[in-house]
Amino acid sequence: VQRSLVLVKPDGVRRGLSGEILRRIEAKGYTLAAVELRTATPEILAEHYAEHEGKPFYGPLVEFMLSGPVLAVVIEGQRCIEGFRSLAGATDPTVAAPGTIRGDLGRDWGLAVQQNLVHGSDSEESAAREIGIWFNDLA
Ligand code: GTP
Ligand code: MG
Repeated sequence: VQRSLVLVKPDGVRRGLSGEILRRIEAKGYTLAAVELRTATPEILAEHYAEHEGKPFYGPLVEFMLSGPVLAVVIEGQRCIEGFRSLAGATDPTVAAPGTIRGDLGRDWGLAVQQNLVHGSDSEESAAREIGIWFNDLA
C-alpha cells in the first residue's frame, strides 16, 4: 500500500491541533505507521524543501518551520498521497474548501509565509524521498 509523509507544522502543534489533524486522518481510514514530535533542523529543511529554494517565500518558510516542533507522521493506505492532499485542502487557507483541514482550521495571519497547518507529500517519489529524510529507518 501507499505511504505518505505528513507534517503537522509548528502552527498546528502550537495551536493544539495535532490531535484533531490525526483524528481526521484516522477517521478517513488511513493508518498511522509512525508519529514523532520533532524539531526540524536547517539541514532537514534544506532537503525537504529543496524544490522551493530561491523562491521568495523560501526564507520565511524555513524560519517558520524552525519556530517550534513539528509532528512528523507516516500514513498508510490505498491512494493516501492523493487522499491526504484532498483532506488538507488548497495551499492558501483562505480559499481552501470548508471541510478540509486548512479550510476549517486555517486562515491568513498576514505573515510572510502561509501558515497552513500541514504538509503532505505530493507524489510517490516525494513520499519516498521525504519519508527517508524524516524517518531514516523507514525509507
Ligand atoms: P506542503 O504540503 O506544505 O508542501 O504545501 P503545498 O504542497 O500545498 O505547497 P507548496 O509545496 O507549493 O509550498 C510549500 C509551503 O510553502 C506551503 O505549504 C506554504 O507554507 C508555503 N508557500 C507556498 N506558496 C506560497 C506563496 O505563494 N506565498 C507564501 N507566502 N507562502 C507560500
Ligand atoms: Mg508541497
